[in-house]
This record gives sequence, structure tokens and C-alpha cells, in this order.
Amino acid sequence: MERRFLFLLSSARSGGNSALLAQAAAAPLPAHALHWIDLSAAQLPPYRDLRPAAARPEGDLAAVMEAMRAARGIVIVAPVYWYALPAPAKLLLDHWSGWFDASETGFADWAREKTVHLITARADPDPTVPDTLEAMVKRSILWLGMNWGGALHGVGDAVGEIAEDKAAMAAAGSFLIGNNP
Ligand SMILES: Cc1cc2nc3c(=O)[nH]c(=O)nc-3n(C[C@H](O)[C@H](O)[C@H](O)COP(=O)(O)O)c2cc1C
Repeated sequence: MERRFLFLLSSARSGGNSALLAQAAAAPLPAHALHWIDLSAAQLPPYRDLRPAAARPEGDLAAVMEAMRAARGIVIVAPVYWYALPAPAKLLLDHWSGWFDASETGFADWAREKTVHLITARADPDPTVPDTLEAMVKRSILWLGMNWGGALHGVGDAVGEIAEDKAAMAAAGSFLIGNNP
């Protein structure tokens, strides 16, 4: 399967630092292999826990699922909000739980073929700030049987400041091409 990457943006502002760091990570990849979805702009329904039943995803949520199914790599792109994922990204993870229980989606099977990467931006240069967020995402991915592709973290607050984090921008250049099981 071709290495197609789906970037799931989750910032509450467009063109922000997390998106800029993700663009730097995407730069070495062929444009036709890239798919971008802004979860903040998508109309994602609230998650309802219907276990042991489950709702089949519809509308934008179904589109996100199909984009995930078509991708080999899934990149969660997130600003750090209160040491955690922004609400749209967390909401999507909650929906993954529903898909996992909805056998007709096949998610529990095809998800195992996917590698999930994490890219974050934050204001506080303390390197431990994204630890909780990364640990939560990584553990969830591994619980689902998906592959963990690693995390890339950058520092910046005002839009564009991430460009001053030279180490993160340099690491971005090889982050996705060097992190594929
Ligand atoms: C609601 C909210 C919560 C935030 N919480 C944190 C935080 O816990 N730690 C931190 O370092 N920065 C925090 N920030 C700052 C953002 O992570 C920072 O501005 C980042 O560059 C935003 O990325 P973006 O431009 O992709 O939206 C917060 C910002 C907002 C709006």
C-alpha cells in the first residue's frame, strides 16, 4: 500500500504553530500522498456511549473514518491545551471507541494496519509539558492495536513562533519519513 498520510488538525485557530510544524513534517512527502482534515471545522457529533450497541458514523465523522481507512499514516496535529489534547481531537478519539464496538465499520481490524504519529505545539518550553498528552495518545493507540509512530513537539505561542524552534523544525524534516514501521 502506498504510504498515504492523513493529517488531523485540531487547533482552535487556523495556520497556527502545530499546523506549521506539521507542514514542515509533510514537506519531504509527495503532495499526492497527503490528506489534511481540520477537525475544528468538521461537524463532529457528540459522542454517545451506546454500548453494547454502537452508532454507524455519518456525515463528516464518516468522512474522517474513510480518510483514516485510506491512509497508512495518521498524524494527530495538536496544540497543547491544558496539558491535554484539544477538544476536537479528544472527541475523535472517543468516537474511535464507538467505531471499535461497531463491528460493521471493520475499524478493529483495519486500524491495526495504521501507524499514528503525534505533532504538538505549546507555549511553555518546559520539555515535560507534553508528556501527559503524549502518554495518553500513545497508550490509547497501543490499546487499539495500532502502531505508534512517535511524537514531535515544538515550542511557540504567537502564530509563527514555532519557526524559532530550530530543533523542532529540523526534526520535522525526517519525522515522518524516518518513523514508519
Ligand atoms: C485553551 C488553551 C490552553 C493552553 N494550554 C497550554 C498548556 O497547558 N501549556 C502550554 O505550554 N501552552 C498552552 N497553550 C498555548 C498553546 O499551546 C500555544 O499557543 C500553541 O502555539 C498553540 O498552537 P496552535 O497555534 O497550533 O493553535 C494553551 C493555549 C490555549 C488557547
